[in-house]
Amino acid sequence: MTLFDRWTSALDQLRAQGRYRQFAAPAGIDFTSNDYLGYASQPNSVETDLPQTGTASRLLRGHHEIWEQVESALAAWHGCEAALMMTSGYTANEGLISTLIEPGDWVASDALNHACIVDGLRLARCRRFVYRHNDLNHLEDGLKAETARPEAGRERFVITESLFSMDGDRAPLRQIAALSQRLGAHLIVDEAHSTGCYAPAGSGCVDESGVRAQVLATVHTGGKALALPGAYIAGSNLLKEYLTNRCRHLIFTTAMPPAVGAWWMQQLPRVRADDSRRRRLHENVSIFRSRLADLGVVAGGTAYVVPVVVGDDERAVAAAARVRAAGFDVRAIRPPSVPPGTSRLRISIHADHEPALLVHLAETVADALSHV
Ligand SMILES: Cc1ncc(COP(=O)(O)O)c(C=O)c1O
Repeated sequence: MTLFDRWTSALDQLRAQGRYRQFAAPAGIDFTSNDYLGYASQPNSVETDLPQTGTASRLLRGHHEIWEQVESALAAWHGCEAALMMTSGYTANEGLISTLIEPGDWVASDALNHACIVDGLRLARCRRFVYRHNDLNHLEDGLKAETARPEAGRERFVITESLFSMDGDRAPLRQIAALSQRLGAHLIVDEAHSTGCYAPAGSGCVDESGVRAQVLATVHTGGKALALPGAYIAGSNLLKEYLTNRCRHLIFTTAMPPAVGAWWMQQLPRVRADDSRRRRLHENVSIFRSRLADLGVVAGGTAYVVPVVVGDDERAVAAAARVRAAGFDVRAIRPPSVPPGTSRLRISIHADHEPALLVHLAETVADALSHV
């Protein structure tokens, strides 16, 4: 079999399984993107003379003092010592995890953690314990068993998302933080989907839950509610110093363009101040979820990511196509993004959706499900 044959047969298999993927340009009203606060649809009004390219690694000529301003603003937002910009949430998680965690260390990771956490763990070549999603008893059992091992002694870590990207449910952060502390594990939290949307100034679930001091590091992306390019890690000065010296995903990549730093400096104060958007977002979630429930549609989670599990891949694709035909951009999510047998519609509610539209969408979803 040639390499070409191998690709063709893999693609044929994906088609046969209903898992073939292709790009589809946005069409219809956005209920798919992670623009939860609705900032992405607003014009970008930043005028800046700062360079439009990064030109080199930040450890070389790619550094610019705008990033120090951005990182100070981020650290102040989270009430922690330091923040470190990264080029994406994917590289932030993979870089952080593979730098801090060493072979021989032990990590408890939620079964639904994002692919970039899983890839960071693969690179770290550590021992892994995948606990059932949000299952505190399973996590505790794993931690206790590891602590009791005679050869235990390497570092232990717990890693979770705070708001799960495909399930719309939140991790019990207070309990996870307490367990981790009691059993001597360091806690890392991926706040990709919660940054901007929780806590009075929008800094996320860790800050809302009051567990910042018990967390080793949090990972945030600009690419979702903040509507900004790039991502960052928040934590201590020592953590930042260590990553600056050891994190390959920071050292061996071109720095982000300084002009992008100007966008961050404009956008952060807006997000901090704009509680009304957060309020509207959560009100919209209630309107949509309660109408779905009235119609007998079962949705998972509690937040603005609303999964409606269909199960079968092709049925999920057909249901999403029906919803899109009515003018709503809703996509089907299939394995490997979600476990086999749980293909779903993933509906993303935004602060700027009109309530009447949400009601109409709920009715369209119920109708689509009854036809596939
Ligand atoms: C939970 C989670 N973490 C990290 C990422 C990666 O962030 P980014 O899109 O900035 O690479 C994503 C999604 O893209 C995500 O859903």
